[in-house]
Amino acid sequence: MEAVALALILVAEPAIVGDPAQGARVYRAECAACHGAEGLAPTALGAKLKASSLRDPAQQLPFDNERLADLIGHGIDGTGMPGFGRDLSVLEIYDLVAWMRQGLPHLADYFPAAGQYLAKPFTLDKPALERISAIVGPLAENETTTMVATLFAPDGALPTEGPEYVPPDPIRLDTLSPKRKLGYVIYVPIAMGGQTQLVGFGLGADLVIKKLTVANGNPKTRAASERELAPFIGEGGRQKLKSALTSRGRASPALTKTMARAYLRAAESAVMYDKDESARHVFDDEPATPKAADAPKAADIKVHR
Ligand code: HEC
Repeated sequence: MEAVALALILVAEPAIVGDPAQGARVYRAECAACHGAEGLAPTALGAKLKASSLRDPAQQLPFDNERLADLIGHGIDGTGMPGFGRDLSVLEIYDLVAWMRQGLPHLADYFPAAGQYLAKPFTLDKPALERISAIVGPLAENETTTMVATLFAPDGALPTEGPEYVPPDPIRLDTLSPKRKLGYVIYVPIAMGGQTQLVGFGLGADLVIKKLTVANGNPKTRAASERELAPFIGEGGRQKLKSALTSRGRASPALTKTMARAYLRAAESAVMYDKDESARHVFDDEPATPKAADAPKAADIKVHR
């Protein structure tokens, strides 16, 4: 009887904590052939199959550990991503998950008061592209779609495990009031110190830069890069979408130029989220219609995109 109860508990809460060092070994043997030596850029074979960069926090955002483990076990139907459920044990798969997440910033690092988050890629529309182009020149084709994580204050108590991912179904989305919105986390790759660094922008709901992190497995490189980016914290804001960031002369002109471009890309992606959100809540603030027994309630005629 006790054994059955224990088994049920284990099934309900598979909170397996993997070992990243073990995961690195499994990764080199099973995954590097497609996803590349460090998981940052796919190999030629991987690129042909359209394999993603595994250590990009933006790519990982929509997945919790269980969903990642499930994906590695089953693969992705109709793509070049094979399932590893037969070749690897559950523990080995959780070791891989631990390795993939090692050294990466957590959403709670940007907004410790966040209880829930959404993650969705947005493609910049024509007005956004024109605004950017007028200030820093045109974006390249592969720079126009960006993953946006939007963070919300919790409805009740703050979850102990960090913010909870809200899947994109219309009913759950409706419960996320724009009034609870804390801000956004958006990753943009930039050239910095002779390499490509993935910079995480923590933007407030007012689009001011609240926090900047660098997703780099090397703690020294990460700390040095984050120090270089510090002058940009507090910069930006809705009116800055019409002009470039300045860093008030505290960062090099080259870095200021690079960051101005990256900021506009991040902030305009957040604006794309806002457009989506206001379409969703279009009827929320309308005064209630006079009470006619059969008239549809405002809540029944919300628009979903
Ligand atoms: C034969 C090449 C190949 C191998 C080997 C491979 N993958 Fe993949 N993987 C892919 C491709 C291609 C995709 C992109 C699938 C798609 O189009 O969504 C992918 C996607 C993924 C994703 C989803 C990421 C995202 O954001 O879309 C994860 C996670 C992943 N792979 C993990 C692994 C792990 C862990 C291993 C080793 C156990 C592994 N892969 C081995 C080809 C491969």
